[in-house]
Amino acid sequence: TQSEPTKKMTMDKPVESLLSTTASKLVGKPINRVDGSLKVSGQAKYSAEIHLDNQVYGVLVGATIAKGQVEKIDSDSLKGIPNIIKVVTDPEHFLRNSQQGGAKKAPKQGVSEIFYHGQPIAVVIAETFEAATEGAKALKVTYKDETDQAALNFTQELSNAHAVDEKNGSDKNYVQGDPDQGLADAEVTIDRFYHTPSQNSAAMEPHATLAHWEEDKLILYTANQMLASCKQQVMDALDLNKDQVQLIAHYVGGGFGSKLGIAPESIAAAIAAKELGRPVLITMTRPQVMEATIRRSNTRQRIAIGCDKEGVIDTLIHDTVSSNLPGEAFFEPTALSTHYLYRGKNRRVHYEMVDMNQVLSGSMRAPGEAVGMIAVECAMDELASQLDIDPIELRRRNEPEKDPSKDIPFSTRQLIACMEQGAEQFGWSKRNTKPASQLEGDWWIGTGMAAAARGNQLQPSEARATLQVDKSKTLGVKAVIETDMTDIGTGSYTVFSQVAADLLGLPIDHIEMKLGDSALPPASGSGGSWGAASAGSSIYLACEQLREMLAEKVGLYPDTIQLADGHIKQVGEHELTAVETAKKNSQAFADSTINKISETTGISLSEQVLEEQALSESEKYDFDNNDSYALTDIVGKYDEQKISAKGQIKPGKNDKKYRQSSFGANFAEVAVHKVTGEIRVKRMTGAFAAGRILNQKTATSQCYGGMVFGIGSALMEEVIHDKRDGRLCNHDLAEYHVPVNADVPQLDVILVEEDDPYTNPMHVKGIGETAIAGAAAAIANAVYNAVGVRVYDFPITLDKLL
Ligand code: MOS
Repeated sequence: TQSEPTKKMTMDKPVESLLSTTASKLVGKPINRVDGSLKVSGQAKYSAEIHLDNQVYGVLVGATIAKGQVEKIDSDSLKGIPNIIKVVTDPEHFLRNSQQGGAKKAPKQGVSEIFYHGQPIAVVIAETFEAATEGAKALKVTYKDETDQAALNFTQELSNAHAVDEKNGSDKNYVQGDPDQGLADAEVTIDRFYHTPSQNSAAMEPHATLAHWEEDKLILYTANQMLASCKQQVMDALDLNKDQVQLIAHYVGGGFGSKLGIAPESIAAAIAAKELGRPVLITMTRPQVMEATIRRSNTRQRIAIGCDKEGVIDTLIHDTVSSNLPGEAFFEPTALSTHYLYRGKNRRVHYEMVDMNQVLSGSMRAPGEAVGMIAVECAMDELASQLDIDPIELRRRNEPEKDPSKDIPFSTRQLIACMEQGAEQFGWSKRNTKPASQLEGDWWIGTGMAAAARGNQLQPSEARATLQVDKSKTLGVKAVIETDMTDIGTGSYTVFSQVAADLLGLPIDHIEMKLGDSALPPASGSGGSWGAASAGSSIYLACEQLREMLAEKVGLYPDTIQLADGHIKQVGEHELTAVETAKKNSQAFADSTINKISETTGISLSEQVLEEQALSESEKYDFDNNDSYALTDIVGKYDEQKISAKGQIKPGKNDKKYRQSSFGANFAEVAVHKVTGEIRVKRMTGAFAAGRILNQKTATSQCYGGMVFGIGSALMEEVIHDKRDGRLCNHDLAEYHVPVNADVPQLDVILVEEDDPYTNPMHVKGIGETAIAGAAAAIANAVYNAVGVRVYDFPITLDKLL
């Protein structure tokens, strides 16, 4: 409700964290996932597993041309197939497909116009999934084919590259000093083009939506990362108001960017369900996921570095061309970290785009850094070889004291600590520095490293915390946390439970975490590695508000309470505020003084009086003898035997005053077969500094994931579109290769200690995408060290080494 007490925080200055001083210290511990047993026992229901009475099944039909117009969708072609109900088609809506998290409006891509092969144009509805699948296969569609003019060859289209829409991008073009002149004047230079391919998020759970209308209200059970912004997209697409749309995603099987926005199956299911008056489930097949959700754009990146003979950089150029559908604003922000990673007074970041008739490109796994740092970090390695300087030493020499492009300090920057701790663990000092010098049996052995950086982000987020009497619990009290934040496999349920448990002094099984429903307070959603920090902070603030309410109830100052084992007690002395100090020091206590103090502290006189009244009730609670009181008794005295509060976090000036980033370093050892060129990653070590670690186990798993992505993007992942007709050639996991267990060796993760008070009240930074950045470059650099061959065209497949 409106009147719910709400703790709001805008990050305008450094803040202390209560998590440093709570009595119970669940935060940080490597505890198992609280939802783990539900998942392994199959009780955690994913969207496609929800079943509603009377539901029917839809299967999408994709265009079989890359550019042109639909002429006719012939429903009659399905006559005779049993159990078919209807072919639903509504091109104006189906064609909307926005994957960009921040986007308020789903882009319009025209009416009945085809922009890429596989674009959904109809959905066949049937009583069974099998019948719908058969119908989708049999549906006859005719086109006015314009494949000839489709843009299907990136290299050819490069000459038509155009400026990007900086307004809607997550990075901007940037020039500092005179980069071209700087390069021309430099004693030592390196100037290379790198190519990275289109990639697919390849989340385990394919996109699926069960749509259901309750009169005029649409309920979507859908695989989604960001419910609040996706709800807005659904409202925009279908012209519905906010009370008419509810999105539910209790469990999501990975997203990696592909579920940041609504995918076509959501809208198709909503329209079909409306037409039929029955719930409609549409599950995309793996090929459909790959053809019609998003891809990460391929890139061509130029990296040029100018430095002196000691390797001290003064010029850094990063020019990138990426691709997207015509009219789309998103471009791959490859140079996000190039702005601040290394020193240099001349710097250019420049983006261009090429229009292609290929599936929409969007944010995927560390959009920007994941492929941008392949180029930068491979170039740094080549520069180090050229100068005969150790790659770590080269990076050390280029460590900037401040953000070199903005002249603002880093909130924290631990690149050197990460490189040192990683090097120590990996045994970097024992490496063979000469390329192609270590043959073991039939295998060339090599080692390489790369820096990692991923910009830290905070998004507005809201949550509610309710403390309530629950006699079924041992301590008689439990906390319910509510927010529309998702858990996409990252561990949200678990880490937020740890935060709430510590702040409220309850065991973890006394926390009921309600996530993944847009009817709950709107959170940041899961994207950009900001989820733990943003949604977590709103939960933290809601719990802090509850702590203050409890303190008031028992007549203690909030800074003198300790909550543990379901009890409250007094600890330490209250630190006097400015107002309180003035009062104590001045008998006269003139109104004018108070007014003056009120002006400077922002604390009003009335709040002051209220606080005094609250404290005067303290006779009911005597804390003199180290007494503690059960929360169940205190909460029991509230109406309805519960108290509820909200928390709201917002980014503020800290984002502008301090460059915030997580840093890290990846190390890899590879073996390359001397005859076949086969590449095996033998081991990897990653060291990452990402602020407070909420859970050692889930954080480590996030890093494993990032490093595995590094293996994929270094050695195998590549979406291939046929240059003749735009068809996606490798649209399943048999042909689009991601690393499997046999490809992933021992991974060592070091979580480097860090406390960053500028980020949020928990001091948490994004970690999921940090480990990806540079991971592929470390492998590429190891391949060079093994065989002496630099590959500039990713992935590094064996043919490129022969
Ligand atoms: Mo991430 S690509 O923002 O899901």
